[in-house]
Amino acid sequence: MAKLQLWLFVLAGLSGALAQTDLRGQVFIFPRESADAHVILSMNNRGPLQNFTVCLQYLTDLTRAYSLFSYTTRTRDNELLLYREKPGLISLFVAGEAVTFKVPENTGTHSAWEHVCASWESATGIAELWVNGIPLPRKGLKKGYSVSDQGIIVLGQEQDRFGGAFDAKQSFVGEMTDVYMWELGTSTDAMGAPSTGSQLPPSILGWDALRYQLKGYVVLKPVLR
Ligand SMILES: *[C@@H]1O[C@H](CO)[C@@H](O)[C@H](O)[C@H]1NC(C)=O
Repeated sequence: MAKLQLWLFVLAGLSGALAQTDLRGQVFIFPRESADAHVILSMNNRGPLQNFTVCLQYLTDLTRAYSLFSYTTRTRDNELLLYREKPGLISLFVAGEAVTFKVPENTGTHSAWEHVCASWESATGIAELWVNGIPLPRKGLKKGYSVSDQGIIVLGQEQDRFGGAFDAKQSFVGEMTDVYMWELGTSTDAMGAPSTGSQLPPSILGWDALRYQLKGYVVLKPVLR
């Protein structure tokens, strides 16, 4: 009996490590600048990505540069990176190359929370950036490339190598929520509320079924609105 209980305990522990959690209504708080606080996310990878859309919401008063979404592989640090260069400038990196979008000032004034979606399509290389539901002029990079699925996704820090080499001066300080990723080359469908986004294919990473690990000083709390 004791053996069976132990075995069940081990099984429960294993499935707990892989559990998907519905985090809707909750946020990750990154309360202090640091070179170690971060969250590792797992995607449901089924091969290299020809198209992707990454969406998330964040609240911060940082004026320096910071990472919003950092995805690296063993061979390339900026395989996919959403990076806020400074107020009004957001860069999207694919396989080490970047396009930078200028965010008009009035785009951010609807709420203190900023909702961003970045998309990229291999067939044309066209990249989109939407801020608070408004699409910015499209740009292009890495036409014909496929994004590796063998990487690590990190929130809160910018990876200069696979899963590490963080710099406190590129860390995110603030709150983040509603992180989603789809294998879609445009954000048009993703801009609606994800919970009611019936036209969307299943996400490859979703706030409603998130597999994540908190590292260092990161706190999960209900959203304040
Ligand atoms: C990626 O998008 C293109 C068109 O935008 C589409 O033709 C292709 O099938 C998509 N690839 C995948 C794997 O979804």
